[in-house]
Amino acid sequence: MKHTTLRDLDVSRIGLGTMGMSFGYTGAGTDDAESVRTIRRALELGVTFLDTAEIYGPYANEELVGRALKGHRDQVVLATKFGMISHAYGGPGHLDSSPANIRTAVEGSLKRLGTDRIDLYYQHRVDPNVPIEDTVGALAELVEQGKVRHIGLSEAGPDTIRRAHAVHPVTAVQSEYSLWTRDVEERVLPVLRELGIGFVPYSPLGHGFLTGAIRSPEQFDDTDWRKTNPRFTGENFRRNLRLADEVQAVATEVGATPAQVALAWLLAKGEHIVPIPGTKRVARVEENIAADGIELTAERIGKLDNLPPAAGEHHNEEQMQMIER
Ligand SMILES: NC(=O)c1ccc[n+]([C@@H]2O[C@H](COP(=O)([O-])OP(=O)(O)OC[C@H]3O[C@@H](n4cnc5c(N)ncnc54)[C@H](OP(=O)(O)O)[C@@H]3O)[C@@H](O)[C@H]2O)c1
Repeated sequence: MKHTTLRDLDVSRIGLGTMGMSFGYTGAGTDDAESVRTIRRALELGVTFLDTAEIYGPYANEELVGRALKGHRDQVVLATKFGMISHAYGGPGHLDSSPANIRTAVEGSLKRLGTDRIDLYYQHRVDPNVPIEDTVGALAELVEQGKVRHIGLSEAGPDTIRRAHAVHPVTAVQSEYSLWTRDVEERVLPVLRELGIGFVPYSPLGHGFLTGAIRSPEQFDDTDWRKTNPRFTGENFRRNLRLADEVQAVATEVGATPAQVALAWLLAKGEHIVPIPGTKRVARVEENIAADGIELTAERIGKLDNLPPAAGEHHNEEQMQMIER
């Protein structure tokens, strides 16, 4: 496994997202033993970058990651997120990036993860009620105390990124980026390049859609996040299938799988772009990590660049309001 850096933080070229092991997708939480095996297999194969958040579960995913990392903690760069649970007001689903909430959240995450430091601590969504300077000020204190090593932002807009970075260096920004979600290319990636901040694409497989494994919305149970997502419903779902078919066609040409093509395309977008594909299955983590060895020709990258846009937004209306703030 190759390595790269997010600013000055060394990470494997591909990381592992653990959210779907406990949260969000059909089957989450049904086979923790396989999830733990998946994390351990990723480590064996050289992955050193794991991604979780306190809201995943809530809490259950950090606990699972903590269990899987017993005896392996020093092998990984452990990233988690705060700010989608207000510990004093409202609980899960309430944005709160106030300094007081961060100080409470970090203690819970450290405990669940079974560690004395978080390597990369992200604000999960920008909180419109708290100036970013106050949030980053509180994070800088945690860095001074040794509880956090690096700080990050998720789905922040360019101005917020600049303001945050002026208070304390931001190591990475994490936002959705994949063959069918390209919004960050216009305004966010240029700022990150200018400031020397790393980028972590989340949902790099399009929540599984780009792998070709999802052919019908009937595959989702009622708790699945995709069940009500605009791209995965009704006519949009049917229209989007041709995107998955085009990725499959390129995969056939290069002798890879569609998941590997989707990841190789992201790797080609920049040296400091580190995708975190999510899976709860050993066989798929092996497949996804192998994308590290796949190089696409300029012609194939161009073909993928020119895929038709997806039908439907990548989040529902309420969630879209929290993006690029
Ligand atoms: N910052 C944020 O707001 C945010 C939001 C969403 C996600 N994230 C992070 O990003 C990580 C990855 O995103 P994601 O999990 O949403 O989406 P993703 O990585 O695009 O796709 C995950 C889905 O694809 C399936 N899958 C994975 N590998 C596959 C393969 N080789 N073939 C077929 N299907 C495959 C998984 O199913 P199985 O598990 O059944 O294999 C799962 O349903 C998350 O785990 C989380 O850590 C962050």
